[in-house]
Amino acid sequence: TQPLRIALAGLGTVGAGVIRLLDANGSLIAARAGRAIEVVAVSARNRSKDRGIDLAPYAWEDDMTALAMRPDVDVVVELVGGSDGPALTLARQALGGGKALVTANKAMIAHHGMELATLAEAHGLALKFEAAVAGGIPVIKGLGEGAAANRIERLYGILNGTCNYILTQMESTGADFGGVLKAAQDLGYAEADPTFDVEGVDAAHKLAILAALAFGTAVDFGAVDISGISRIRAADIAQADALGHVIRLVGQAEVQTVDGERRLFQRVQPVLVAKDHPLAAVDGPTNAVVAEGNFVGRLLFQGRGAGDGPTASAVVADLIDIARGNAVAPFSLPVALLEKAPAADPGNRLGRHYMRFT
Ligand code: HSE
Repeated sequence: TQPLRIALAGLGTVGAGVIRLLDANGSLIAARAGRAIEVVAVSARNRSKDRGIDLAPYAWEDDMTALAMRPDVDVVVELVGGSDGPALTLARQALGGGKALVTANKAMIAHHGMELATLAEAHGLALKFEAAVAGGIPVIKGLGEGAAANRIERLYGILNGTCNYILTQMESTGADFGGVLKAAQDLGYAEADPTFDVEGVDAAHKLAILAALAFGTAVDFGAVDISGISRIRAADIAQADALGHVIRLVGQAEVQTVDGERRLFQRVQPVLVAKDHPLAAVDGPTNAVVAEGNFVGRLLFQGRGAGDGPTASAVVADLIDIARGNAVAPFSLPVALLEKAPAADPGNRLGRHYMRFT
């Protein structure tokens, strides 16, 4: 059997992690995938930067969109980030030019997921983004495949590792927000622009993707009601503690019937979580997703939501799927069957500000 040939765009934390993972576990991965997975070509902004990996075995492209044109490539892996710009251009060129696409780019999928899924379907190509949501946790596969027999009634969770790291560090050390954010950046958890983390935008990207998958709707990032954690002070955390609670940034999506119509509510906000709730125990850069299905009951997915190893694990899982020929619709349903997500309701019934979560 032919190896699956990969082009890798972006050699930051995650890209370098993918190369290290394929090196370390190559034979195990080949056995499980039924064929080898080989990186053929790479591209990044700076060729000479020291990443602790040897780039000599791979062809180099200065222009990353050239990766999508290479005849020796089956799959483009986009790890550049950004909802638009070079990442989106590359994604369109890959799918338009006959290559499968694997991406960790939640911003791009949240904004352009429908367009890219349509393109992938039209060309019979795989579009996969396990790494875009909750890092190493196989929640896209868990919801899209494992729980596919269920009607999902409710979905919520901790979807940003940086915020969870900040909140739990503030909780355990009493440190202030700024110092802990700097540490999260140094540890490689934060986005290039950490405002996306601390203002809840990154969590909202992930929530919109999960909600589409869980509820069979089109991705509708614009409908997410978002508040972040940048105004949380040590005093807020101490006060929550005195009341038997912790503060977590929680994303929630739920379908409710309002005036006879089904409405999808999506919200990201800091929430008071009772200390005996499973989300209160979620610590550091960990993410957790709870989904309630009408036959399976409550599922809890938990694990590392950020960082090179966990995110690379999810990227390579998608590559293994493609190597096996597993062609699942990106949002579990063909795009034409997804419902249009109903508009955000200004009277959103999920509750505002420091909702208590028990
Ligand atoms: N900045 C993101 C986080 C990385 O902290 O969760 C993973 O998407």
